[in-house]
Amino acid sequence: MSTVSQVDGASATATAGKPLLSVNGLTIRYGGVVAIDNVSFDVPEGKVVGLIGPNGAGKTSLIDGLTGAVRPAGGSVSFQGQDVTGWSAHKLARRGLTRTFQSVELFDDLSVGENLLVAAERPSLTRALLQVLTPVQRSGQEDADWAADVTQISHLRERMPKELPHGQRKLVGVARALAGRPALLLLDEPAAGLDTDETRELGAQLRRLPEHGTSLLLVDHDMSLVLEVCDHILVIDFGRLIAQGTPDQIRHDQVVIDAYLGRQGGHDGPGGPGQPTGSGA
Ligand SMILES: Nc1ncnc2c1ncn2[C@@H]1O[C@H](COP(=O)(O)OP(=O)(O)OP(=O)(O)O)[C@@H](O)[C@H]1O
Ligand SMILES: [Mg+2]
Repeated sequence: MSTVSQVDGASATATAGKPLLSVNGLTIRYGGVVAIDNVSFDVPEGKVVGLIGPNGAGKTSLIDGLTGAVRPAGGSVSFQGQDVTGWSAHKLARRGLTRTFQSVELFDDLSVGENLLVAAERPSLTRALLQVLTPVQRSGQEDADWAADVTQISHLRERMPKELPHGQRKLVGVARALAGRPALLLLDEPAAGLDTDETRELGAQLRRLPEHGTSLLLVDHDMSLVLEVCDHILVIDFGRLIAQGTPDQIRHDQVVIDAYLGRQGGHDGPGGPGQPTGSGA
């Protein structure tokens, strides 16, 4: 474990604030492969937490284990104070915890606008509570419009997903997840395939999401994005949490530099050659 902070216990996260998500000793196995090994951390409400690590470190497995795609072999997950370990993706989404996928998953026979509307109209506890608490009730259309606006894809609403380049499909995927107005969104490499300007714009929009009630766990290989957008960063390697801290602490952490940042030059990320990768320094 790096100098930044200890992680061998449930109370290890250095970030202040009320934990929205609390992960304790999570272990994910695929047969004999231990993809996530006894990992503990919190995501406080109103924060953007980054999750970085080399290819195959276990980042997607962690998201899978938190969102019902894979049943954890050990440990527990609590969300908004409730034990949600092993809950299905559907039940978690209704509760306000949702994710995006590394490979974009859209309904190709629906327009972009319809994709957002379908996601927005899924009933969720968050929506139900908001509708009780706010005098003016929001419609699914309003949430879909908001998600398109926040991700700056409003001009694409009439288009079919198949007509769009990869970068724009990624943004539609992010917008679709946001349209359900989740309390916590887990983003798996939203910037992969985006160019530098698109990534910067996405980062600016992501940064604002906590103000709109959505906290984030952001997985990405683009270090300039992660360092710019996140309040707190977790670093995993071979399934273990090796460091965590503020962007500044992570940027200067020797363990992180050795395990990850130093390898960035030769990084063969899933976004391929078009994927921006900063040096992080
Ligand atoms: N469905 C699966 N069955 C078996 N092994 C898997 C499965 N999914 C992932 N793994 C293995 O688990 C480990 C972690 O993989 P994972 O995809 O979580 O890494 P990652 O950090 O998301 O990598 P990347 O940066 O390339 O997306 C790897 O050794 C991988 O081969
Ligand atoms: Mg992955």
